[in-house]
Amino acid sequence: MKGPVAIVGAGYVGLPLAVVFADAGHRVVLVESNPDKVAAVERGESYIADVPSDELKSLVESGSIEITSDYDALNEAQAILIALQTPLSAQREPDLSAVLGAVEDIAPRLQKGQLVVLESTTYPGTTRERLLPILEQSGLKAGEDFHLAFSPERVDPGRDDWTTKNTPKIVGGITPACTARAAELYGSALETVHQVSSPEAAELTKLLENIFRSVNIALVNELAQLCDRMQIDVWEVVGAAATKPFGFMSFQPGPGLGGHCMPIDPFYLTWKAREYDFYTEFIELAGKVNENMPYWCLGKITRALNAHEKALKGSKVLILGVSYKADIDDTRESPALKLIELLQADGADVSYHDPYVSSLPDQGLESSALDPAGADCVVIVTAHSGIDYEEVVAKAPLVVDLRNATGSNGTSNGKVWKL
Ligand SMILES: NC(=O)c1ccc[n+]([C@@H]2O[C@H](COP(=O)([O-])OP(=O)(O)OC[C@H]3O[C@@H](n4cnc5c(N)ncnc54)[C@H](O)[C@@H]3O)[C@@H](O)[C@H]2O)c1
Repeated sequence: MKGPVAIVGAGYVGLPLAVVFADAGHRVVLVESNPDKVAAVERGESYIADVPSDELKSLVESGSIEITSDYDALNEAQAILIALQTPLSAQREPDLSAVLGAVEDIAPRLQKGQLVVLESTTYPGTTRERLLPILEQSGLKAGEDFHLAFSPERVDPGRDDWTTKNTPKIVGGITPACTARAAELYGSALETVHQVSSPEAAELTKLLENIFRSVNIALVNELAQLCDRMQIDVWEVVGAAATKPFGFMSFQPGPGLGGHCMPIDPFYLTWKAREYDFYTEFIELAGKVNENMPYWCLGKITRALNAHEKALKGSKVLILGVSYKADIDDTRESPALKLIELLQADGADVSYHDPYVSSLPDQGLESSALDPAGADCVVIVTAHSGIDYEEVVAKAPLVVDLRNATGSNGTSNGKVWKL
């Protein structure tokens, strides 16, 4: 079947994916519900750091990428790739409402020969148990009249060595023909495709990857807390262990997990496992350790100020870096937000500096000039690469370095307190 590749959801995943398919010679139609994003793409303005505006603009002007909020645009598509958000509800249960709502809109428009792929991270069984019945309400049968598969997005925002194009793409279809069709489509634009036997295997692969990171980060976060008591530099230990060429993989401690994926995705599996009378204890324990890190860091800041004969209440605390990781502008689930909330609740006078994030409306804060000398304590939460940390240490009366950005030796030397 000919026709454009349609991508539903022009967010962190959908927009870079559109560029990769357009670069490979496909016509791409983005279906996006947010009118501001539709207008921005129409103007050729990118709101995703990994997609340069000049590249997007030329693809929009040449007609390679179109964007609309009208689902009727799907009628012509050879493939419909769904890249919508999959958050947790207030009760920390999977919230598939965006994905299922979109699939309800896709079903009446589904055409014979089309391929539908879910890219959103979710629990094993979502594609077969939730999407398939809605799509088959069209009267078309998966594997015969249309193809259905799951293919997880693995993009790591801000990274340029491994991108959407060269990161191997996992695909698992409802039938072998569905897998083959999905592999054919992705293979036409991405460098490597790895086929698995089912959507469930593909869904669980993505969760394993994120759980692996979450558990290992929790391990070093726990070790960091022990090292603090034992007066051992955890960064020195992790760095030394990383010299082992086999059997060890380095993970860094930090103020907690952030982003759309790691604080959320593992709990999709926890929820699903309960259906099988199974308790995912590693996931729960890792979540507990990682979620506690901002509270633990609050204690460290309080101790550091105390050593300088200052109470947290009333002290000027400058948070350096608020995005969830370095050199990006994404603040979703950032541990900096939790830390700011905790500091404010204890009466600290909090300001922040982040070259990537101009304001935090929910916290009522705007990025201020970087003035380490004007603060009682500078807390390095996210170590953006453009900051001169030597200068920060030189000018600030006290630095709590939660990322080892200052590279100072020892556990604390009075002025620099490291995690
Ligand atoms: N951001 C990442 O780094 C990343 C990495 C790997 C996997 N993922 C997964 O990919 C999925 C998408 O994540 P994201 O970060 O791109 O989310 P996002 O919120 O950036 O993008 C979703 C987009 O869909 C739009 N949208 C919402 N409902 C819609 C609807 N009914 N119809 C059309 N558009 C609609 C939103 O306005 C938004 O632009 C999630 O499941 C996420 O876990 C994300």
